[in-house]
Amino acid sequence: MRVVPVKGGALGAEILDIDLAEPLGGNGVQAIRQALLDHQVIVFRDQQLTVEQHKAFARNFGPLHVFKFQNARQLPGHPDVLRVVKEKDGRIVFGGQWHADVSFLPRPLLGSLLYALETPPKGGDTLFANMYLAYETLSDGMKDLLEGLVAVHESDVPNQGYGADPADYVNMSHEHPVVRVHPETGRKLLFVNKTYTTRFRNMTADESRPLLEWLFHHATRAEHVWRLAWAPGSLAFWDNRCTQHLPMTDYHGCRREMHRVAVLDEAPAAP
Ligand code: OGA
Ligand code: MN
Repeated sequence: MRVVPVKGGALGAEILDIDLAEPLGGNGVQAIRQALLDHQVIVFRDQQLTVEQHKAFARNFGPLHVFKFQNARQLPGHPDVLRVVKEKDGRIVFGGQWHADVSFLPRPLLGSLLYALETPPKGGDTLFANMYLAYETLSDGMKDLLEGLVAVHESDVPNQGYGADPADYVNMSHEHPVVRVHPETGRKLLFVNKTYTTRFRNMTADESRPLLEWLFHHATRAEHVWRLAWAPGSLAFWDNRCTQHLPMTDYHGCRREMHRVAVLDEAPAAP
């Protein structure tokens, strides 16, 4: 396999010359894990995977996340596979706001593996932002201020019409340090996101809002972002601990269908 960084300066690499339907030989798992740690989002093109092959590939990196509640998005018979679908006439795009997946869990996901089955002829890209860069580009004064802060992440965000499904997670909340240390790379990163982070610990949402809004804005500045264009057979594996993502809502009248499998990780470490 070859790891080819994308042209954008923020994050991302394509992994070439590999067939994910085959078991990974030799040090394949280690090499892919290293590519994920080095590039935060890795993309495989032109894959042809059954559901079992998709899950088997993901299991190389950790146990799979199983959805607690029966919900319409689960693939029948596979509570660990999420169907991310927008029908032709659908208006709501799943996860249509900057976020890290399920950051309100005590054990956020290591990463998600999203596999494209059907993509619109144009539109339907996904943007990814690098939370190491978001941290590293802060001033020393802001870094010092944030070191002491803990943020509250909540599942029951008011549904603003961007496809969060309240039936997936009910009344879940967890506190995470605002500056998190990546458990594998040891690098510091900014761990707040617009979808699930509601306030700082021991502060009201009102008091928290100005600084949180600025952090959301800074985290997703264009310099920190890379944009992935999908095709059927593309599989993206993002490190959910050090990235955020945003699907584009720009393909009305077209259908898009993806399968997502997610891998678990340990709780965030304090700096
Ligand atoms: C997700 C998600 C983005 C997309 O599957 O977690 O946010 O582009 N998807 O479908
Ligand atoms: Mn998501």
